[in-house]
Amino acid sequence: MTVLDQTWFKPLPKQLAFIQSGSRECCYAGGFGSGKTLSGAFKALVAALQHPGTVGLVARQTSGALADNTQKIILDGDDKPPVIPADLVARRSEKHGTTITLHNGSEILFRSFQDWNETKLLGPNYGFVYVDEVTECTERVWLAFLSRLRHPAGPEQAWATTNPNGHDWVWRRFHPGSGQPEAGAFLVHAPTEENPHLSPAYVAWLRAQPAEWQKRFVDASFDTASGQIWAEWDSQIHVVPQFELPDSWRRLESLDHGRRNPTAVLWAAVDHDSSLVVFDGYYEPGLVEQHATAIKATRGLWPYPPVQADPSVFVRGFDGQCVADEYARHGITLARAANDVATGLNRVSEWLTRREGEPFPGWHPWAGTLGPDGRGSPRLFVMDAAGTLPLRQEIPDYRWRDLSPAVESRADQPEEPRKKDDHACDALRYLVMSRPRPAGQAPPRAPDAGMPRQHSRGLLARAF
Ligand SMILES: Nc1ncnc2c1ncn2[C@@H]1O[C@H](COP(=O)(O)OP(=O)(O)OP(=O)(O)O)[C@@H](O)[C@H]1O
Ligand SMILES: [Mg+2]
Repeated sequence: MTVLDQTWFKPLPKQLAFIQSGSRECCYAGGFGSGKTLSGAFKALVAALQHPGTVGLVARQTSGALADNTQKIILDGDDKPPVIPADLVARRSEKHGTTITLHNGSEILFRSFQDWNETKLLGPNYGFVYVDEVTECTERVWLAFLSRLRHPAGPEQAWATTNPNGHDWVWRRFHPGSGQPEAGAFLVHAPTEENPHLSPAYVAWLRAQPAEWQKRFVDASFDTASGQIWAEWDSQIHVVPQFELPDSWRRLESLDHGRRNPTAVLWAAVDHDSSLVVFDGYYEPGLVEQHATAIKATRGLWPYPPVQADPSVFVRGFDGQCVADEYARHGITLARAANDVATGLNRVSEWLTRREGEPFPGWHPWAGTLGPDGRGSPRLFVMDAAGTLPLRQEIPDYRWRDLSPAVESRADQPEEPRKKDDHACDALRYLVMSRPRPAGQAPPRAPDAGMPRQHSRGLLARAF
């Protein structure tokens, strides 16, 4: 592995373990300056050299961060020489982003994925994919990349480097402590100080910052407030195995219509104690006709009330037509859902919150008990069905929009979700808003359960 013997780069033990890992998926979760990007970059170089003729992707959420940081470190050099020296590069093209071809025929594409939809992502086959700062993307994007790892030249590996961002999908997928990591996923964890190449003054500055900030950005801890909107969500509790729904339970439907984005539809049932279980879902881009056909196929002969839908489907264009009319032509009646975002987010939180003294429903694995920890049952559940997968993936990734320091200082800043892969979450809001608040006394909210970002996250945002 001669490239690792470049005179200036002596991999640190964790960098070496990461670069040499043969896992299909690995993640280097580290503090600021812990050597994340260099690890990912050298792993790309090694893969490109060891697998002549392969195609690799180096990706990052924004084109600015890609050009100014990741790509610069790899191709132009930052405070060090470039990871891929110019004499290894046979050709460089700037069409649709930078692409280089090495003398051994391997290609590396540098792309941002902020404006990509999945259809665009699913273009070429890749031999490897490297995503820098992977918590900026969603698990759907990561899975889309994994699905393209089939270039015949290999090595069929995807790796990521990132600062941790709480108990998000990266934690779930890679961290053994999540209880549900992907089989074979490999995690390297490196606090900043493990990199001896940083200046002592820089490290001292980091260590002078607020404790909560240091915990995430220097100690690289996953156990920090992560800005999750529905922090009550716990797949161990809210996801239930599939079961036959009794005919006597009411059925409900909701829809978030996408024009360029996928359309998300959810189907739910209300049990005799008014608990709500989402039992199926649909998540596809396409035309109204296709959506309507899918909706009718799932409905069968069941008489559903009008579908709770995003009010924008009733907005009429110049021709006097609206999306709801189109659905109506295909036999689907839409109803205007309550779309106040803050109220909807809060209402879903209430339905997800565990209620003291309330036993789990008879159809839950913890039926009739208050759960192993005695904290009681929530009122909203999702069945473990293939159709509900997008919803189950979106909920842990549904985050508050990050605030810049300038915006943070405005006292009236509204609480807004980050607009990214949230179509199923929107549909869930419409569904829940069609129901009253869950009966019984509202339990006290957990300290980081949902809204109080100004308190739990202000510390982090202020430090930028
Ligand atoms: N093994 C090494 N040998 C020499 N220098 C190194 C090594 N690892 C990291 N460095 C240097 O440490 C600094 C930080 O490395 P790098 O940019 O890879 O870290 P990072 O964790 O991606 O940082 P950031 O948090 O800013 O994204 C850079 O100056 C880099 O050149
Ligand atoms: Mg970096």
